[in-house]
Amino acid sequence: MQKKVIKKGRIYWPGKEIKKNAWVNSDKIYSKADKNPIKFWEDCAKELEWKIKWKKSYKEKIPFFKWFIGGKINICYNAIDRHLKNKSDKTALIWIPEPVNEKPIKITYKELHKQVCKTANLLKKFKVKKGDVVSIYLPMIPEVVIFMLACARIGAIHSVVFSAFSSDALKTRIKDNKAKLLITADGYYRKDKQEDLKKKIREAIKKTSIKNTIFVKRFDKRAKLNKKEFWYDEELKQVKEECLAKAFDSETPLFLLYTSGTTGKPKGIVHETGGYAVQAYKSTQLNFNIHDDDVMWCTADVGWVTGHTYMCYGPLLNGSTSIIYEGMINFPNPGRCWKIVQEHKVSVFYTAPTAIRMFKLWGEKWPEKYNLKSLKILGTVGEPIDYSTWEWYFKHIGHKKCPVIDTWWQTETGATLINSLPGIGPFIPSVSGKSFPGTKHTIMNEQGKLIKKGEGYLVQLSPFAPGMLRTIWKNKKAYKEKYWIFNNKLKQFYITGDAAEIDKKGYIRILGRTDDVMKVAGHRISTAEMEDAIINHKSISEAAVVSKPDKIKGEVPIAFVKSNQKINENEIIKLVVDKIGPIARPSEIYFVNDLPKTRSGKIMRRVLKTLLKNEELGELSTLVNPESVEEIKNAINSKKI
Ligand code: PRX
Repeated sequence: MQKKVIKKGRIYWPGKEIKKNAWVNSDKIYSKADKNPIKFWEDCAKELEWKIKWKKSYKEKIPFFKWFIGGKINICYNAIDRHLKNKSDKTALIWIPEPVNEKPIKITYKELHKQVCKTANLLKKFKVKKGDVVSIYLPMIPEVVIFMLACARIGAIHSVVFSAFSSDALKTRIKDNKAKLLITADGYYRKDKQEDLKKKIREAIKKTSIKNTIFVKRFDKRAKLNKKEFWYDEELKQVKEECLAKAFDSETPLFLLYTSGTTGKPKGIVHETGGYAVQAYKSTQLNFNIHDDDVMWCTADVGWVTGHTYMCYGPLLNGSTSIIYEGMINFPNPGRCWKIVQEHKVSVFYTAPTAIRMFKLWGEKWPEKYNLKSLKILGTVGEPIDYSTWEWYFKHIGHKKCPVIDTWWQTETGATLINSLPGIGPFIPSVSGKSFPGTKHTIMNEQGKLIKKGEGYLVQLSPFAPGMLRTIWKNKKAYKEKYWIFNNKLKQFYITGDAAEIDKKGYIRILGRTDDVMKVAGHRISTAEMEDAIINHKSISEAAVVSKPDKIKGEVPIAFVKSNQKINENEIIKLVVDKIGPIARPSEIYFVNDLPKTRSGKIMRRVLKTLLKNEELGELSTLVNPESVEEIKNAINSKKI
């Protein structure tokens, strides 16, 4: 039998069968796109339906750029209506609830269309207009996709907030974008328990711009609502089924997604419509080799960009079937994912390295219980994947026949940018691959010069990918400073915030963040945001949070605090969990008399990181208080014992 994936040394290549079924199977796609990247993206855009074709494809004036200028498009129309002619009875979404006694629900394109149109009319009833921000704080239920698409249909901007984020985190986001309407649910199921959301929500919207709240009913019992709170199902009975999808200017904002940066406050990343639609569509098609019979399962929560692009928009723009699941990957047992793959014949499985490390820890006995033959492509995203985790995934989930596509991208980039394509390869454990056709990434050194080979800061060159962010919500200054300025100079390239290594063929290995952003279990967390939360304690005068490598989660946050009184660790944990959510819970806390600082008073987080890793400290002459180092070293060592 022809091998589907061929191994040569430590590198894997697609076999004949994969090549034959792939949308692209020759390197020529890269050279052709390289010669004229704008033409490449124009050709991709032509595969979608535009009400009015663009007049100019691309324009840039760094740090700003635009795509498909003058073009008018509706992304919701492209994700649903466009498929009604040929695929109206095809399943668009499969929802898998957590409680085992609840059956999965399949929603066809026709049904999705009806529901989205009605929901769009409901938004209008609540006076939502083009350009208004709608805050969505929903768990993993189909309504989250329905509301996102309904917003897109009428030109409203959705701001989805991860439903495990705290009340405070939701409030901060609403305060920034001044949303008037909040879409949420009475709760969700997690580990067979009902997680009530109402209290959290009511707390979050106090003293904000929110005027009305719509609740999706998840639990059987209808809770009592207040005056400005409405049940989605009841409201829906009062609206019409027809809702025209008006086409909007390509550069119309589509969504805001808040992410952690280097300050204490999350920033609202702004994505616009046309360019994002094109890149979400093309990257899903090429990376995951999406054809009509494919079922795609991106396990990310919709509160993260991965869920936006590869659970919602990407699969639907391709007329494919997408899976949404509620609950956890290991409940009721660690075989849950594989049971879902078997039952729903999942062909594309896309997850984070942390999840794969957990699967590995739970053992191959779980995937072995199920038939995983439907799988064709495996994807990974969100953090570096190490060699052995990659190999385990390839062997025990993909049975050595599925290419493992390691996709690098960010909330800011909207869609994947660096990875190998399944019909071309190569698939190299721990190397993401080349820049996606039509895009170019390279390395900048410490002096701010671009280099073609070696290690340094990962940057993207012009023309900037169509799905990239356009700005930070109401903060152009932060946008410019964060992504375009290096050593006080405005650069002609986008600075990703990651370190990477590139070889002469253009293969890129991601090394990790260069700023104070951590990736904890693939979730992006800002050390500054955590420090801000901790400093709120009246007895704490200073705090520094750094990451420490972790076998499962990749990295975990460690807090160093200086306080004038003895305090309980739980008080600190509560501050962080209340401000951000349980994902940011510090895994260790050290109480210290002093933190290592420079003469100008800057905390040397690098020293703390090095101490945690038990590595050589190197040059310490810039420290004003070197004695603090010894104390911290002792504290760390005593905890180890
Ligand atoms: O550091 C990179 C890491 O995740 C960061 C972006 O995080 P976020 O905005 O939350 O988006 C994650 C999902 C797209 C990047 O700056 N990262 C993302 N993908 C990879 C990765 N690190 C290594 N390998 C990847 N494949």
